[in-house]
Amino acid sequence: MASLIMGTGSCLPRRALSNVDLEKIVDTSDEWIRTRTGIKKRHISSSGEYTYYLASRAAEQALDMAGVAAADLDLIVVATISSHMLMPSCACFVQQEIGAKNAFAYDLNAACSGFLYSLDLADKYVQADKNNKILIIGAETLSSRLNWEDRNTCILFGDGAGAAVVGHTDNNDRGIIGSNLCSDGSLWKLLYMHTAESCNPEISVPEWSGAHIVMEGREVFKYAVKAMEDAVRELLEKHDVDLAAVKLVIPHQANVRILNKLVERLELHSDRVFINAPQYGNTSAASIPIALDEANRNGKIIENDLILFCSFGGGFTWGASLLKW
Ligand code: ACO
Repeated sequence: MASLIMGTGSCLPRRALSNVDLEKIVDTSDEWIRTRTGIKKRHISSSGEYTYYLASRAAEQALDMAGVAAADLDLIVVATISSHMLMPSCACFVQQEIGAKNAFAYDLNAACSGFLYSLDLADKYVQADKNNKILIIGAETLSSRLNWEDRNTCILFGDGAGAAVVGHTDNNDRGIIGSNLCSDGSLWKLLYMHTAESCNPEISVPEWSGAHIVMEGREVFKYAVKAMEDAVRELLEKHDVDLAAVKLVIPHQANVRILNKLVERLELHSDRVFINAPQYGNTSAASIPIALDEANRNGKIIENDLILFCSFGGGFTWGASLLKW
């Protein structure tokens, strides 16, 4: 073990949108959304609350907790699928916003698994040079990428950002133990979002409806549960760790029904799984770091606790990561 999460932070847009508010936008009901997804509300960005803005506020909190100055950062990675520009990257906007003038910066697209992919990268950069200080962020404003006439998708997602600073530790008993990351591009049609008019001959132009999330919910549900379960079991087996030794599982907050199914398949007691999807909905790459920051600040994790993350998202991408806090 060599790399440790030194600080965490998070930021949510000011405005919350309840299920009752959504009833005025699409043909849905609070009862349907709560029963099928467990979501009660989500936060939605207002003017000026761009992805980089939320990311930067989360980053400042994480740097503060870590006791690391922005100028001492070597790398910034932002996991996102909803930056307000494709170029420059969201990470470059964050770099200038927080004044991290010595860091190089880039975005990473692994949809809802983006934070776990970033954590693995940060771990490798710190192992390559123990002086490296890496800022990793999951940040989304998916409200700008939803078809607000599609009740299958617009009820699920929310905006927000979470951040972590990763650096070296001399304590060999603590830190990132390992990750098990996976992708399967053959299943892309079950969950996707265009950036511009499609060049793919399989999608005819009349189907084009802008940069919106398109999803086969039932299929995604089935794959998500099985993939996360397999990723967790493989990772624990590789590192010879018993699930009973894990203090807290922090999963991607896809929705409460998926998480309940995962909990059932892993035979976990629900008090060992952190769930905040009812308050924030699915914030994609931001969901794990927001949950981590909440768990951290509320004292749900303490030094030496074994923490397990797992995620699933568009790509498909999925995985699990294990660390000793
Ligand atoms: N309000 C009211 N009715 C609705 C709504 C809505 N918002 N959305 C769909 N319905 C209707 C459908 O039209 C359908 O009606 P019909 O029977 O008359 O045709 C009925 O409800 C059932 O629809 P299903 O899509 O079969 O509903 P399901 O029980 O599968 O729940 C859901 C849908 C919640 C999307 C579920 O499939 C799911 O959780 N999928 C996982 C998707 C997900 O979380 N994706 C996030 C990205 S990936 C990730 O983060 C893991």
